[in-house]
Amino acid sequence: MSAHPEHYYRYNQLDPIIEKRVDELIARMTLEEKVGQLVQQYPFSGLDWDLINQQKVLAEEQGQAFIFHRVLPPEVDAFLLAGKTGTVSCSDVRTANYMQHLAMEGSRLGIPLLVANDVIHGFRTIFPIPLAGSCSWNPELLEQAERVAAEEASASGISWIFSPMVDIARDPRWGRIAEGAGEDPFLCMAIAQARVRGLQGRDLQSGSRIAACPKHYVGYGGAEAGRDYNTVELSERTLRDVYLPPFKAAFDAGAGSTMSAFNEISGVPGTSNPFTLGTVLRQEWQWPGVVISDFNSIGELVRHGVAANLKEAARLAILAGVDIDMESGAYANHLAELVEEGRVPLEVLDESVRRVLRLKFGLGLFEHPFTDETLAERVILDPTFRTLALEVARQSMVLLKNQADLLPLKAGQGRLAVIGPLADNRADLLGCWAGAGQAADVDTVLEGIKNYLPDSAFTYVPGCTLDGAALVDLSEALTAARAADLVVLAVGEGEGLSGESHSRTHLGLPGRQQELVDAIAALGKPIVCVLMCGRPLVIPRLVEQVDALLLAWHNGIRAGQAVADILFGAVNPSGKLTASWPRAEGQIPLYYAHKSTGRPADSSGTTQFEVPFLSTYLDEPNTPLFQFGFGLSYTRFAYTDLKVETPSIPLEGTLTASVAIKNSGNRAGTEIVQLYVRDLVGSVTRPVKELKGFERVPLEPGDERRVRFEVPVQSLGFHGLDMHYVVEPGDFKIWIGPDSQAGLEGAFEVRP
Ligand code: BGC
Repeated sequence: MSAHPEHYYRYNQLDPIIEKRVDELIARMTLEEKVGQLVQQYPFSGLDWDLINQQKVLAEEQGQAFIFHRVLPPEVDAFLLAGKTGTVSCSDVRTANYMQHLAMEGSRLGIPLLVANDVIHGFRTIFPIPLAGSCSWNPELLEQAERVAAEEASASGISWIFSPMVDIARDPRWGRIAEGAGEDPFLCMAIAQARVRGLQGRDLQSGSRIAACPKHYVGYGGAEAGRDYNTVELSERTLRDVYLPPFKAAFDAGAGSTMSAFNEISGVPGTSNPFTLGTVLRQEWQWPGVVISDFNSIGELVRHGVAANLKEAARLAILAGVDIDMESGAYANHLAELVEEGRVPLEVLDESVRRVLRLKFGLGLFEHPFTDETLAERVILDPTFRTLALEVARQSMVLLKNQADLLPLKAGQGRLAVIGPLADNRADLLGCWAGAGQAADVDTVLEGIKNYLPDSAFTYVPGCTLDGAALVDLSEALTAARAADLVVLAVGEGEGLSGESHSRTHLGLPGRQQELVDAIAALGKPIVCVLMCGRPLVIPRLVEQVDALLLAWHNGIRAGQAVADILFGAVNPSGKLTASWPRAEGQIPLYYAHKSTGRPADSSGTTQFEVPFLSTYLDEPNTPLFQFGFGLSYTRFAYTDLKVETPSIPLEGTLTASVAIKNSGNRAGTEIVQLYVRDLVGSVTRPVKELKGFERVPLEPGDERRVRFEVPVQSLGFHGLDMHYVVEPGDFKIWIGPDSQAGLEGAFEVRP
């Protein structure tokens, strides 16, 4: 795959030929037809799923293919024939083609549908959840994974994917932290671009194209108290410095659509926000793409209390710049009337229609609206896709503890007891938003272990149910552990505990799993814990109790094999955290790029007992349990000789700095080298550290390499007192090292 940016499809640039076609088409459209282009309707809502499932079972029993569209109700047909919807959500190729035929051949103007879907970390080949994937710090690899997702989705009739989620998330209570790339804007930008490029790609083998839809615009991750959909209070500066840049990056990579968020920011909902949707998106960024609302987020303007009714909600949303109404019915029912009454100018409506048609022409839908129905069978779950899923799973895992180098397991380590509700589990390893993923595709941890050990070398006991409601076979678990030389504990969250609308206040092991761990730990055997989850957990007790801790997340269909490859040393772990792991829920929100405050604690973890009147807690240090950027390897890396090659740089210059890094252990490994800076004095306060560079560095044992970074000085800025982006001359600190708390320190100056 070429990594050359100009080969990728871009849906955010104006093409004069397309503009002409759009103008010609708009000139022929009636008001109703225009409104239709701005409606996304889920034709399946209200279907009798019991009946459909019965028919499916019947068809399968009779050995016949189940044709979904035969059960579409007549109203759906009528809707499509009348051109009343411009986009639908669907993931079944026959249904998609059927609806496309109705729209193209049945409606007056024959405008094709955008067929949309949520493909968040794979379509059928399910990759690690995005938060896990980000721990690979490997944008190129994630791009390849998105390519696979796009191939499978496209073969299934999909042309528009509601992904990537580029929301910064600094609160692990929020279940949707699973869907993004963590807490840091710089890393999130790199990954957002890679994911957009991967989804949109160049030509798909399947011949069709895919448009990405970075979401949720904007600030959604700042939900107060980590409760989904909750109020967001965000200063304009933080919005501009932290939350907006990943969207800008995704657009710069060619994304031609975005989704307006559910949340309000400082009193103005994202779906009726003239500042974020108008001033920033359209005026400052001059972005010509499509904005779709989130699911019913126009309707929810009434609940927010900024619109008295659905009609008013429609008016606010379209005037703010939301082009397509997902599912609320506000545009379908009220937009034409609002235009006729003169309360929404026709030019505003036309502009939204123009954006939608631009995307459809850009995708080539007018020329290639249909999908070859035999393709999916050939494309989906291709063996090379499974291999790629394994590689992403391996690189996404993070080794958090490895006392006395217990891992990797050595030959002759003795008998194993594998205990825990996630050891023999498939469905939960898929994680949230698993799309068309199927549990049957998943390797379990136990299966992975069996690829390394004969059945006679280990015993497996679940110990408790995953929801933790019951300790089902504690005595068997204890017996197995007693008889073993080493215990592998497979614990964590079920997939239903993270993702949309799945926020938690207690972030320990769910249910009675901690009791199971306590009982096993009391036996004093060496314990390796494989932790599978969808968010950073609060687990100080567990960390104390186990000798080794491998964070395996919800890592998709190859999770179990990847776990075993790491446990048995076929793969050396290299992942590093992209979100801080708190010591206690009370520290949240917790992120490394915090401000100093006027009374900073020192970095050694002072508590208020030691030094009063600092910005500290009485009962915990400020530091996280595991910091951003942290992750261990089976080998050791030694950092020496930081060279700041440009100690004094002009504003338009480039910071060049390098460090020598040596693999001082006896295994090959990959280190993720990180560069951070601090702007010491600004016209407004600056974070104590900011990531500005990273590189994955593979090294053979004993090898040494100099890793050089080049950072444009213009990327070291922020939004100043006048809210304009500025790089201010002055003194900076720089660190190059293994994580956000360690590293060699130097200094440089930016000259006026
Ligand atoms: C989610 C979006 C998703 C949409 C469509 C909403 O509830 O917030 O992320 O794209 O549903 O499924």
